[in-house]
Amino acid sequence: TSSDKINIAIDGPAGAGKSTIARKVAGKLSYIYVDTGAMYRAATWYCLKFGIEPEKEEDVLQMVSDLVIELIPGADGQRVLVNGHEVTEVIRSQAVNAKVSRYAQIEGLRTKLVSIQQQMALRKGVVMDGRDIGTTVLPDAEVKVFMTATVEERALRRYKEMKEQGEISLEQLMRDIAERDRQDEQREISPLRKADDATLLDTTDMTIDEVVEAIVSLCRTIERER
Ligand code: DC
Repeated sequence: TSSDKINIAIDGPAGAGKSTIARKVAGKLSYIYVDTGAMYRAATWYCLKFGIEPEKEEDVLQMVSDLVIELIPGADGQRVLVNGHEVTEVIRSQAVNAKVSRYAQIEGLRTKLVSIQQQMALRKGVVMDGRDIGTTVLPDAEVKVFMTATVEERALRRYKEMKEQGEISLEQLMRDIAERDRQDEQREISPLRKADDATLLDTTDMTIDEVVEAIVSLCRTIERER
């Protein structure tokens, strides 16, 4: 029955592999994957499109008040729609990468997105990844994981992912990631932080399958205890 399902919170810094892992864990458990970073990215893309700078918080909030973000699971990953428009690719652009952490500092925007995320998890069976899932969005999640890896390793993973586009160097990626970490960790409202009851997973020397297995086995342990 659906009441047997649990919620799984996966947090960690940029490029730690959260989305790849979360998607695979969700697949194995037949759970729903929710990529909260995509929601902050979608809001950022929308504001940038209309030239609304993050410093103008009132304007940003006005802008996103009628924003409809849809996450649609598909065969080759999740599609993201903003007010019905396909933004799956464009929310991964450098322009969005560079600004998203700044928009994610806006309290009113976080309040709106957090409440949508909590709605999505009400019926359980959700694997949600982000920065504040274990601490703020789903403090009662049955399984919480905080995934890390060194900055070098995370930049290298992004680099391999992006190589086809050939638009950015490894050094630049490393600087971008370090800067995003800094902004996410130091912001006032629900900063990136490991929840006290989260399991720390350093994935620097782990394969994707090893990380997936580690999380699935945490879930099985919890299921047995219930
Ligand atoms: O996981 P990602 O790189 O797609 O996330 C993009 C940005 O969104 C990240 O730099 C910080 C922000 N974010 C957040 O503040 N809270 C979340 N739950 C998820 C993402």
